[in-house]
Amino acid sequence: MTVKKIAVIGGGTMGSGIALTAAVHGIDAVVVDINEDQLARAKDYHAKQLARSVSKERMTQVGADSAAAKLSYVTAMADAADANWVVEAATENIDIKKSIFVQMYETFGKSVVLATNTSSISITELASVIPDAADRVIGMHFFNPVPVMKLVEVIKGEETSSETTASTLKLSEKMGKIPVPANDRAGFVSNRVLMPMINEAFHAWADGVAEPEDIDSIMKLGCAFPMGPLRLADYIGLDVCKDIMMVMYNGLDENPKYLPSAKLVKLVDQGYLGDKSGRGVYNYDKG
Ligand code: NAI
Repeated sequence: MTVKKIAVIGGGTMGSGIALTAAVHGIDAVVVDINEDQLARAKDYHAKQLARSVSKERMTQVGADSAAAKLSYVTAMADAADANWVVEAATENIDIKKSIFVQMYETFGKSVVLATNTSSISITELASVIPDAADRVIGMHFFNPVPVMKLVEVIKGEETSSETTASTLKLSEKMGKIPVPANDRAGFVSNRVLMPMINEAFHAWADGVAEPEDIDSIMKLGCAFPMGPLRLADYIGLDVCKDIMMVMYNGLDENPKYLPSAKLVKLVDQGYLGDKSGRGVYNYDKG
């Protein structure tokens, strides 16, 4: 099966990156978001990224124009119904995702793969709301920033067919990525390992072990990380980090080691979500 057009459900940080990556690799991509402002931001992000690629001579103007022409933006899922692949990249909340999966099942053709970019939610549980199509549901977990990061973590649910898996591996490669399999346990591999470390950095800050800049410098210089855990949390989105910890807490026997730190929860409650809100652990308004 040739993937001609991808519908990306959710046009935030990840959805906009997935759509851009598809378009740059010659696949039509329609971004679906209920929030019109978010669609405008996605469009603006695409224009800036393509212009930057041209100015850095990573892409010709003709290539950038061709990618831009492959991108479209809609608020109603029904207006994306001609896509023959779907990647859900909406808010990391199981109830929101379940209702989106029912809508996806009703909207798209009966042979279309319904992939999800969830960071942590069980694929089998998401598929359980559409039992007739559970063989077409799969985890296709891209990393941030999508145009740059090579990995796609591929997660099969209990009912995922081998055809769906094979097509997902093929599409990932067509999008310039390296797919690696992981099993369907909350957080998969990437966040099962990464998020407790980020969460521990918040505990260390709250316990007065060091200030955020020093925690990040120590982890960068001492562990050769490209950015420290608190800076990375801002980049990912503090709300997303909190949501992932809660999914792991609920999905891994309510083990208290997965509870988000009080410091992280407080920042989210205050609306400090990281880069996307201009302030998180660090204040980006002040540079
Ligand atoms: P985000 O908060 O930037 O974007 C989520 C978008 O979903 C928002 O624009 C929102 O309007 C939209 N949305 C909510 N309900 C919707 C609906 N019913 N229909 C259409 N759109 C809807 O979130 P982000 O960071 O892009 O995360 C999206 C998914 O990707 C989550 O599952 C997250 O766990 C996962 N992810 C996030 C990474 C990150 O670094 N931020 C990395 C890898 C995966």
